[in-house]
Amino acid sequence: MSLRNISIGDITEKVVISIGGSILIPGRDDGKYIGELAALLKELSLEVHISVVCGGGKTARYYATTGSEVGGSIHQQDLFGISATRMNAGLLDLALGYGNYPDIPETVEEAASRCEDGKIVVMGGTEPGHTTDGVAAMLARELKADRIVNATSVDAVYSNDPKAVPEAEKYSEISIRRLEELVYGEHGASRSGIFDPLGVEIAKEHGIDIFMVHGRDLKDLRSANLGHKIKGTVVRSH
Ligand code: UTP
Repeated sequence: MSLRNISIGDITEKVVISIGGSILIPGRDDGKYIGELAALLKELSLEVHISVVCGGGKTARYYATTGSEVGGSIHQQDLFGISATRMNAGLLDLALGYGNYPDIPETVEEAASRCEDGKIVVMGGTEPGHTTDGVAAMLARELKADRIVNATSVDAVYSNDPKAVPEAEKYSEISIRRLEELVYGEHGASRSGIFDPLGVEIAKEHGIDIFMVHGRDLKDLRSANLGHKIKGTVVRSH
């Protein structure tokens, strides 16, 4: 069956992937990885409807740091960050064979409207003060998606920061309430780096599950997109 014959009406499940810049452009075989990721997403798009929000990674951090050194405000650092996320989105979009860059959707509404033709829509950030995890949750809400797949550089959610606490428990499945506790912090130990707290609130309110996987583990990423059992953590929102 050719991709051209697939219409949105044939596919019922919708997935929004939030992929960190640390996965897309760590400087380790990035082109090879992005090509393999694009091939996987095309294959998966025969079974589930996929949209992707890309993070800014080290390009965003470089411009934020250097921008700050030359007197830039937080707002200006965010604007650099958003540009970096859109460049990363452009790379994945290119690997998917579309070549939309620099015409990358700037809002979740625009991304959602471009989903209608059955393509895999790829976007970055939207406005200062947000993160791409938050944008992914907003796009999932807009699309009424079944799940968010968070493709990060950590393989799962742990009871504590595994780097600081080696005996931390690795969770295979937790409730959205438990994730909420972790990102807002128990006893003042917030771990908002796991997933943007705004995104957690949106997922909780709209019953959207979050699958946390290591983004360079394409086998686990495939399972997460299909809603199957994963090596990472499934966060249940209902
Ligand atoms: P992210 O922090 O989302 O990218 O955006 P990342 O670091 O690659 O993501 P993770 O943590 O690995 O998932 C990079 C920067 O871009 C700005 C913020 O400054 C953010 O830190 N940004 C991004 C915005 O201001 N608004 C957005 O909608 C998205």
